[in-house]
Parts: sequence; C-alpha cells; structure tokens
Amino acid sequence: ARLCAMKRGALIVFEGGDHSGKTTQCTKLIHAFESAGEKVKLFKFPDRTSTIGQMINNYLGSKCEIEDHSVHLLFSANRWEKQPRMMELLESGTTLIVDRYAFSGVAFTAAKPGFAIEWCKQPDIGLPRPDLVCFLTLDTEAAAKRGTFGGERYERTDFQKKVMNNFEKLKDSTWKEIDADKSIDDLHKEILDLATTTMASVAQNPIEKLWM
Ligand code: TMP
Repeated sequence: ARLCAMKRGALIVFEGGDHSGKTTQCTKLIHAFESAGEKVKLFKFPDRTSTIGQMINNYLGSKCEIEDHSVHLLFSANRWEKQPRMMELLESGTTLIVDRYAFSGVAFTAAKPGFAIEWCKQPDIGLPRPDLVCFLTLDTEAAAKRGTFGGERYERTDFQKKVMNNFEKLKDSTWKEIDADKSIDDLHKEILDLATTTMASVAQNPIEKLWM
C-alpha cells in the first residue's frame, strides 16, 4: 500500500426519470454528509448560472430555438466548463454529489430522431467517470401519482419513455438501479448506505475517465 496517500473524494451521480426524486435525494445526501463532517459539494447539470447555462435555460424554456446538434454540444460544454473545478475538488478529498450528468446528455439527445447513442457520447468522452450512478426508477403509475409534467421542453410522456429506454443502454457496473417508489426517508437510507460504501472503497483509486 502507498504511504501517506491522500483520500480522494467520490463522484456520485444521480440519474433517472422526471419526478423520481433526484433533486430531493441529492439535497438530503449532502445534508447527511455535512452533519457527519464529510467534505461534500453539490453540482447540478445543466448548471444554468454560466453564460452557456443561460443559453440552455432559454432553450429549455422555449425562449429560443437552438439546432439539436448544437444544443447537445452546449450541454456537454456546460459540463466541461465545470471539469477543472470538479477534478480539483475530487483530488483534494471532496465528494461530489451530481444531479444529472453526461448520461442525461446522451439519453435526452438520442431520444430525438436521427441521433445515434455513439454520436451523442463523443463530446463527453474524457469527463471524470462516476464511482456510483444512482439510477432512480419509477413505474409509469407511480410517476403519474407524483403529478403532471411542467411546461419545459422534453416534459412529455412519449419523449420521457424514449429517454428511459436510452438510459438502459448506458448502464455499466457503476450503476445501481433504485426503485424510487418508497418514502423519502427510506429511499434516503438506501442511498446513504450505497454512497458511504462507495466513498470508502474508491478513496485510494485513481479517478477514471468516462467512456475510455
Ligand atoms: P433539470 O430539470 O434537471 O434541470 O434538467 C433540465 C432538462 O434538460 C431535463 O429535461 C433534462 C435535460 N438535459 C439534457 O437534455 N441534456 C443534458 O445534458 C442534461 C444535463 C439535461
């Protein structure tokens, strides 16, 4: 074993369908780790605060049109602009909780006509690879109970079905599929357990890169 090796942080990503509770669970996880004295930070994609993020926000709110390939690259650029900071934090031992990541990027664009998964993956190749992807699933009935979709682009049942189908094609060994049809607290306990185990097990491993 290496001596004096510093513990790196874990990269923990949340993906899943709309209304699956991703954002609620990210917040609860951050709070739990903070109260336990762990170094953690929340990231959310798209990050709507940057210049690129504002373009994406306008696109999602249908305030402008952006050509499909072009907007795909903007979503990716919105992750790359955060990559240096993410690497710095991970290397200095901070665990990152990330609400959506490159998998959403691929799954959403590939749900549009004429977009192949392989093409969609290219711009995100080389981003830090998550150590754990919490993939929250809800069957259609359970999802319907959580209310109707909002007015943003992509919030349509037929489109979301294609997106969920694409997520299935992106799963690898770092994915944990979690049935989100349970109470917020039960779901939190399950996720906290997974996240804690992941943090301990990756501390001495190098940060890998996505899709390489
Ligand atoms: P949000 O509701 O989590 O803020 O995400 C906004 C929408 O953007 C959601 O419909 C998913 C979609 N999206 C993409 O199309 N590509 C991406 O790369 C990301 C991160 C999200």
